[in-house]
Amino acid sequence: MSESPLPATTSTGAEPGVARRVDAPGPWWRHAVIYQIYPRSFADSDGDGIGDLPGIIARLDHLVELGVDAVWLSPFYPSPQADAGYDVADYRDVDPIFGRLADADQLLAAARSRGLRVIVDLVPNHTSSAHPWFGAALAAGPGGRERSRYVFRDGRGPDGAEPPNDWQSVFGGPAWTRVTEPDGRPGQWYLHLFDTGQPDLNWDHPEVRAEFVDILRYWLDRGVDGFRVDVAHGLVKQADLADWKPQDEPVSGPGTEGPRPPMWDQDGVHEIYQDWRRVLDSYPGERILVAEAWVQPAERLAAYVRPDEMHQAFNFEYLEASWSAPAQYAVITRSLAASAAVGAPTTWVLSNHDVIRHATRLALPIGTPRPRGIGVDDPQPDPVLGLRRARAATLLMLSLPGSAYLYQGEELGLPEHTTLPDESRQDPTWERSGHAERGRDGCRVPIPWEADAPSYGFGPADASWLPQPTLWAEYALDRQRGVPGSTYEVYRTSLRLRRERGLGTGTVYWLESPDGVLYFRNGALRVLTNFGADPVELPEGAELVHASGPLDPDGRVPTDVTVWLRLDEAGED
Ligand code: NOJ
Repeated sequence: MSESPLPATTSTGAEPGVARRVDAPGPWWRHAVIYQIYPRSFADSDGDGIGDLPGIIARLDHLVELGVDAVWLSPFYPSPQADAGYDVADYRDVDPIFGRLADADQLLAAARSRGLRVIVDLVPNHTSSAHPWFGAALAAGPGGRERSRYVFRDGRGPDGAEPPNDWQSVFGGPAWTRVTEPDGRPGQWYLHLFDTGQPDLNWDHPEVRAEFVDILRYWLDRGVDGFRVDVAHGLVKQADLADWKPQDEPVSGPGTEGPRPPMWDQDGVHEIYQDWRRVLDSYPGERILVAEAWVQPAERLAAYVRPDEMHQAFNFEYLEASWSAPAQYAVITRSLAASAAVGAPTTWVLSNHDVIRHATRLALPIGTPRPRGIGVDDPQPDPVLGLRRARAATLLMLSLPGSAYLYQGEELGLPEHTTLPDESRQDPTWERSGHAERGRDGCRVPIPWEADAPSYGFGPADASWLPQPTLWAEYALDRQRGVPGSTYEVYRTSLRLRRERGLGTGTVYWLESPDGVLYFRNGALRVLTNFGADPVELPEGAELVHASGPLDPDGRVPTDVTVWLRLDEAGED
């Protein structure tokens, strides 16, 4: 890559897997680094251009070498793929594009034999419209028993031709679609907070609750280590389905003030997770629930990880924080305090399959709200600046106590694909927003393994379901592996040191620093990130342990670089 090699003190001689055996106190999930696999885009074994479970199995050693503790798999269940698998038609099987149920079993076994844990995605807010329950609901007609598992209502206005309320879909357009009744007449409307192919379930219905407990047990019995719970803040709606005008940020809850949206973060969700926690606790081992809940403020999110509920919740406030010392200081301290108040580990995440990759996002002007996709005619963020900040952000994140999430490809420094041709876009956001929002395809492009292979080693075919940019060659794993200072080797070293030094179970002690600089101690390691305009001197007596990028010729920490330091002082632990 374009960065020059780091000083020799940062290079790693660790053998794959060796550093993974260091024990840390407490259950694994309190400090784990969890790697998100987006199955469509990780590795394709059969040449259809879409990633699959055998492809993942064949690449598992990469994750061992990288040094993560666990993987989270985005959905691989049978699905019409209206929302890339987040529209599930059968919760107990594998879609043929991803393989067979036997492949899922083999993947669990192959991961276990390598010491990797596996958590799977659970999508309880909605099913696919191809789920048998939804077919039965349509066939049952208004008032039919099967209809009550979903949220059907009569429309407003003459002939019920207007949606029952003003809610908007997260992907754009109304959150309601009118059905044609069995007698051929226009009839009731059903709620879908996402795509029309994702009807919302009615979580007041006992059959819905019982079904999901059964699905949990089904995968727990197969050996999964836990579940990432999709839209965990959306299952329960305010009973009156009241209109909701302020919809600027439809997937989030409000800030500290103002009314709570009637579709998000209702208090009733918590008893569902308390029930699920009891189920997980009845299984041996430490199985976990992770909330995907776009809820603010941090105190409200912390309610999802009280001792009798979920184990973790994604920290999206952290993901959305500006790249500045005050903003990062504020979000780190607030996150640590909010999770400590309920005895939960804090989590950290910078990228996933729903947001602009952080190697691109961090190059946007500081303070830009998280955009919903970038297209060829938008201003193009500077990739060098983005990668520099991304590496500094990652090193900062991996020095924090708690559990960290990585998204596939970030260990290669992959940027967002910001020039994806519009005609290849698959995210329903693009069509549903009337082409106002590009959507999330740019972070979902299949990842590069080998610079000179077809589809950069993603699979045997030349083409992949989303086209890869030619610059993928320079990011390919085989161009970075063993190259000191490459993004991949920086990640690998960071993960090894994080484990060896117990950073995941440590404590943050803030140290005095000039404006524009964050400086703290975790155990015996000191962490310094320079957000300011000028280089900063290393603290006196400090020895460089690791860095996100090279120091300047005078041995100072340049702008947008994080360093890990050792400073011999008695009494630090
Ligand atoms: C959150 C998932 O991460 C996203 O990809 C999906 O579109 C929505 N939930 C709806 O399931």
